[in-house]
Amino acid sequence: MKTPYTEKVIEHFKNPRNVGKIENPDGKSTEGSPACGDIVSVYIKVDDETKRIADIKFESYGCASNIATGSIITELAKGKPIEEAKTISWKQASEALGGLPPVKAHCSVLAVEGLRAAIRDYEERHGLIKEREPTTVDVLRKRLKHVMNPLTGLDVVRTELIKNVELKDGTVHITVDLSEDHQFASAIKEDIKEKIEPLWDVKEVTVEFLG
Ligand code: FES
Repeated sequence: MKTPYTEKVIEHFKNPRNVGKIENPDGKSTEGSPACGDIVSVYIKVDDETKRIADIKFESYGCASNIATGSIITELAKGKPIEEAKTISWKQASEALGGLPPVKAHCSVLAVEGLRAAIRDYEERHGLIKEREPTTVDVLRKRLKHVMNPLTGLDVVRTELIKNVELKDGTVHITVDLSEDHQFASAIKEDIKEKIEPLWDVKEVTVEFLG
């Protein structure tokens, strides 16, 4: 069958490296692509002394290009200092795969953003962020765009599950339009807390369900 993919893309798609989840990761992320709605999660373990990526895994709910890029970026990032891993670009990833069709650029962008977000998560949790912007409601809403609504596979902001976001003296209160005993309520609550709590000036996060 003729495909628009290079042999390398097909090989990484068929035998992706570093697929899966790391239990108790030092950093993790879930990114969704606005272009296609697909999702990728990245997990990292970082050596605290050398600040190198000791282990990395990814889970993709995306297409062949996304799986192949996830595979190649985990190979490129493994063993690298986080400062260096952060600079891996989608262009580099796509070149390492021998090229991707232009229409598939967003798939590799998604994987690379997943890697950067997982590193940022590690840095936030370890107080390593230098440029400390004060948290605003806009910053909180941006973060919430990375919380998935398992009912649809899209984020909780786009699917209008977030009814209200309040911020006062470092305390964040989020109202979710779902009943408290809904099967996904506790997963959503946990995800919201995970995304918001690492912000340096946030002291407490409470999540309220309507109904
Ligand atoms: Fe969605 Fe490739 S089409 S990640």
